Amino acid sequence: MTTFRYLTAGESHGPGLTVIVEGIPAGLNLTEEYIEKQMSRRQKGYGSGGRMKIEKDRADIRSGVRHAVTLGSPIAMWIENRDFANWTDAMSVSEVGDDCDKKVYTKIVPGHADFPGALKYVQHDLRNVLERASARETAARVAAASVARRLLEEIGISIHSRAVTTGDQDGRAVATEDVDWDAVEASEVRASDSDADERFKIAIDKSKADRTTIGGVFEVVAFGAPVGLGSHVHWDRKLDAKIAQAMMSINAVKGVEIGSGFANTRKPGREVQDVIEPDPSDPRKFSQITNHAGGIEGGMSNGNPIVVNVAIKPIATMTNPLPSVDINTGEIAEAAYNRSDVCQVARACTVGEAMLALVLADVVLEKFGGDSVDEIKRNCAGYIESHQAFGNG
Ligand SMILES: Cc1cc2nc3c(=O)[nH]c(=O)nc-3n(C[C@H](O)[C@H](O)[C@H](O)COP(=O)(O)O)c2cc1C
Repeated sequence: MTTFRYLTAGESHGPGLTVIVEGIPAGLNLTEEYIEKQMSRRQKGYGSGGRMKIEKDRADIRSGVRHAVTLGSPIAMWIENRDFANWTDAMSVSEVGDDCDKKVYTKIVPGHADFPGALKYVQHDLRNVLERASARETAARVAAASVARRLLEEIGISIHSRAVTTGDQDGRAVATEDVDWDAVEASEVRASDSDADERFKIAIDKSKADRTTIGGVFEVVAFGAPVGLGSHVHWDRKLDAKIAQAMMSINAVKGVEIGSGFANTRKPGREVQDVIEPDPSDPRKFSQITNHAGGIEGGMSNGNPIVVNVAIKPIATMTNPLPSVDINTGEIAEAAYNRSDVCQVARACTVGEAMLALVLADVVLEKFGGDSVDEIKRNCAGYIESHQAFGNG
């Protein structure tokens, strides 16, 4: 039986997105304003397309919350697509006449779901694939994750993110443990220093002028996770495996790294393991002096910050479209252009935070499960206390 799960529904230009979150305990303070604040973070970003100016996302809570406190029942939310007003015919649920603009498109965008989706689902209008494949759906995930994040706050877990590269520009001058997360929040490109902020913006401006797009790598970090979330005993219970799947599910993500996983491959083993030492004031307390493992060993959190790096490819839609073909005629054609971002790295950061929050809520509920927030907090506090007595065995 799944402890925690969520489901989203909705098309990019349809009336809206629906999300149902199940498994959240009773007694959690939750407001629409809290969720709105998280959703507005997904909408900021230098290099974002016109749609972000139209949409001011807001999730209306339709069930599971009373007087700003969760009831333990499924939480249903509705996110209206403000742009739907311009799409009532094209996205109508009922049949429309041939005189209506159905916004059909047939010219495949290379790098999108268009080609495999059309053949698999037997679609001659590529819009029938794009509408759900679009990253608009991530708005619903961020809404679900806001609920997860609220729960994690109760046991002292916080999640942050920054862009570490944008295009060919590296912005890793500040080490993860030294990042000023408020400064990142203030940066339109989610850079952690002003030099990277400037270089990322120049790279985005240049790609816009060149009528192309750029991707990058972003880092998502969770602080305060207790030792022992996830498990070593089975492949699908490993925390790193769950995180990798969750990050990989974000549209356009093509790589996931836990800690300094890739750099570690070029170093000798003595330099990449995180040596454990006792606390001088209390030899029963252990801690690692480095965090190359990114806070996870053997599929379990080890008490260090959980650090995930995520590679996201450049956006496929370009103002100077690639050569392609028409799905119905097979003739050579230019790929379609729909209004689009130039660089989505900054926005993807907040989606990455959302996915980490959803995974951590799942493993927290698995470990400390209870029907009320108080019960979960008691279970968590008792477990952490038991570690203090560990050495007395
Ligand atoms: C936050 C975010 C915004 C995105 N915005 C766009 C966009 O404006 N235009 C576009 O063509 N792709 C955009 N993408 C990427 C596509 O959704 C994605 O490349 C496409 O669905 C194909 O899936 P795949 O790249 O994972 O194979 C965005 C992705 C994210 C995470």
